[in-house]
Amino acid sequence: MHNEFETEKKQIGMGKQAAVYLYDSFAYKVYKPPYPVTWIEYEIENQQKLCKTNLPVVNYFKTEDPYVIKMDYIDGISLGERIKSQGYKQGVEDLIRLQKEIHLIQNIDLPKITERFFSQLEKIDYENKYKTLGLKLLKEIEDKDSLCHLDFHFNNVMFSNDRYFILDWVNIGVCNPIFDFARTYVILYEYVNRMSQKYLSLLKKDKSIETKDLYKAIYIMALLRTAEGAGPRVYDLIEKTYDMVLQNE
Ligand SMILES: Nc1ncnc2c1ncn2[C@@H]1O[C@H](COP(=O)(O)OP(=O)(O)O)[C@@H](O)[C@H]1O
Ligand SMILES: [Mg+2]
Repeated sequence: MHNEFETEKKQIGMGKQAAVYLYDSFAYKVYKPPYPVTWIEYEIENQQKLCKTNLPVVNYFKTEDPYVIKMDYIDGISLGERIKSQGYKQGVEDLIRLQKEIHLIQNIDLPKITERFFSQLEKIDYENKYKTLGLKLLKEIEDKDSLCHLDFHFNNVMFSNDRYFILDWVNIGVCNPIFDFARTYVILYEYVNRMSQKYLSLLKKDKSIETKDLYKAIYIMALLRTAEGAGPRVYDLIEKTYDMVLQNE
């Protein structure tokens, strides 16, 4: 990127793989090698598909630098900050409402990812009996074609001018939405445990959500999370749900 970008950019976000900057009224997501350029191109391509839906997402633009994505800038705060610094109380409800909106999108041209879950489960470094149960449960869960975000949490939702925007669609694909709910639960369980309890009880109360496979999906997503360097809480969750799902088999 040119010199003025380098000197004038203001950092607004920092994730595991990319830093996000504000420059000239746009947001820029800057990856670093060895992050593969093909993955960045894939992220841009997917975002362009999402922009054709009615979901609240930002436009992405290619730049001359293959490691830099230009985006519409959302001048606001994350839902996480809204809850933490502004004492907002309906954050979990809003999260679930947005997530259900995502799942309503069907027949979008994105990869089906249930197969990916199978191969990821086979590869994880975990005691065999846990993996075997995971694979068995994965076979039992009906395959569906809903759009799933799969990294859906409070910091990937921005709030601006009384509206929400959903960010960070790097893991997306098409599958049974129960996996997306389960994945969010696992993330909340690890980082904001109290919120995860509310999230789970609201899911279970919601008549529009089919929750019969929820614990199976939580078990599977917790196991898969260990491949990303999960903390001890995730291992506890695996133990807890292992016994639960086994009892119901
Ligand atoms: N278009 C945007 N407008 C404003 N802030 C953004 C934008 N994109 C990202 N951010 C900020 O940067 C953070 C990290 O971006 P994100 O896309 O979630 O990447 P990752 O979490 O993979 O690093 C976000 O949580 C948000 O605070
Ligand atoms: Mg993020």
